[in-house]
Order: sequence, then structure tokens, then C-alpha cells
Amino acid sequence: MKYHQKKTIILQILDKLPNKLGYSIYHSLQKKSFNEIETKVNSNFQSLKKIESILNESNIELKNQKIIEIGSGWVPIMPILIKLKFMVSKIITYDINKHYSNKRIKLTLKHFKKTNFKTRKCNNLNLPNFIDYHPKKNIINASIEKDIKLIYSRFVLEHVTPIDIENMHKKFYNELNNDIKILHLISPSDHRAYSDKTLSLYDFLKYSKKEWNRIQTKFDYHNRLRLPEYIAIFENSGFKITHIEYDTVDKNSDKYLKYKELKLHPDYHKFSEKEILAGSICVLLEK
Ligand SMILES: C[S@@+](CC[C@H](N)C(=O)[O-])C[C@H]1O[C@@H](n2cnc3c(N)ncnc32)[C@H](O)[C@@H]1O
Repeated sequence: MKYHQKKTIILQILDKLPNKLGYSIYHSLQKKSFNEIETKVNSNFQSLKKIESILNESNIELKNQKIIEIGSGWVPIMPILIKLKFMVSKIITYDINKHYSNKRIKLTLKHFKKTNFKTRKCNNLNLPNFIDYHPKKNIINASIEKDIKLIYSRFVLEHVTPIDIENMHKKFYNELNNDIKILHLISPSDHRAYSDKTLSLYDFLKYSKKEWNRIQTKFDYHNRLRLPEYIAIFENSGFKITHIEYDTVDKNSDKYLKYKELKLHPDYHKFSEKEILAGSICVLLEK
């Protein structure tokens, strides 16, 4: 049995357990990766460089501004990097789960120890005082301040249902000031392929919706949306796309060869090869 198949079976078993127990075992299985905080910082730093270049190109100034993060994840690395780079006043971060823990925050702060951030209790966690953490909260149901300057997400939208993506953007469009900017970094590929190199990064596109729903769980939900579908959702919500970039695939690469071996499900036949393969999407939205 391949690695991704074993992992799927474990997640499917955890998915059937009562929520609290399932998440508690899931969290202990994830612990291993938190020893590698340097790797996580480096990867977040690459995203920061991307964010910085897009914001600079669009003359977006964040100094002393309040911003929102969708999808806090496990560690507050990105909010810290953003604070250090852009000197924002506050980062309000929402997540439908509660993955932060004092242990992981401590590990993160240890890495940034030179910065000597002041901390305070927020949701029983000792967080830097510029981070407002809202776990177990869907931003669609949150009351958000009108004068937020930027909303960003990193590797989150692919885990959100299409209807939630649409509803949150309609809310942003209707409730926030006209100068709101929204920046998403999206990873539309099959995440199982990151830990199992035998899989194509597009492997999940061979399944029907029903088949894929039998494989995925609440721990690894992926909407499998392709580039044109994201664009349509953002535009239907009222936003203009003022910057978009994404990776293409070299036809001589192993990645392309593995993709060519796949038999795509007919649901995906309506897309061009370029649309299917578009990876690491960065998109900036404005009213
Ligand atoms: C892959 S992690 C990325 C976390 C973090 N942004 C990072 O870059 O490391 C995805 C996170 O999005 C959260 N998430 C999924 N759906 C969400 C939603 N509708 N609203 C907010 N967060 C969500 C998950 O709980 C998870 O913490």
C-alpha cells in the first residue's frame, strides 16, 4: 500500500471518531512537523517575498493599518513576518479550527527571540499583542471592522468550500470600505503528492465528485477548484482582479509526464491544459 493510501485510511478512521477525540489524535500526529520551525519560517518567508512584490507593484502601503488573515493555521509565523516587514498595527486572524497552542507559539517566538515581542493572553494563548486570534470562527459570521486595509490568505482557499468562498467575498464587497485589497495565495494541487512523490500533483482530478468525497475527510478537505473557477467566484462577488500570477508546467518535466499519465475525470474536460495545470496562484482583488 502506498504512503498516501495509508494516510487516507488513518484520516478516515479519525473522521469517524467524535470530533474532540478525532482532533486530539490528529493534533498529536501533526506534532512531528513542529520540530521543523526553521523549514516553516523559510517557506513563509518565500510567501512574504511574493506578497511584498505584489503589494509594492500596486503601491499598497500597510504601515499602521489593520489587516485580516483568513486561515491562521498552526503557528503565527506569517503574522509575525508581516508585522516585521510592513509595520501593520494589528493582524486579526480567523480559523474555523483551533490549531494554535501555547507550545507551538512558544517555539515560534523562540525563533524570533531577537524581536522581543510583548505578549498578552488571547483565547488563553500567550500571543504577541498585535495578533487577535479568532479560532473556531468562520469569517462569514464575524463582525469585521470596515476600515480593514488588507485581507490575505495563504494556502487556505483550496480548503474552503466554493459556496463559503463566494459568501465571504460577497460579504467583503458589501461591508468593507472601497479601498479594501484582498490577496490570496492558493495552492490548487493535490496535497497528497507533497508527501507521496509517486503521486501526480493533479492526481485528484481523475476522480468524480462522489469518489473524491469518499477519499477526503474534514482534516484534508480540498475543493479541487481550477483557476477559471476561482476567477469566476471572485468576479461574481463584485471584485476586479488587478493582479494574477501562477506557475506553469514545463513540458519536459517529470511533473508534466506524471500529469499526462492521468485520465482526467470528464468534469475537467472543459478546461484547457493551461487552466488545469495553473499552480501556486496569487491573486489581488480590488473593488
Ligand atoms: C493549510 S492550512 C494553512 C495555514 C496558514 N495560512 C499557513 O500558511 O500555514 C489551512 C488552514 O485554513 C483553515 N481553514 C479552512 N477553512 C477555513 C475557513 N473557511 N475559514 C478560515 N480558515 C479555514 C484550516 O483550519 C487550516 O488551519
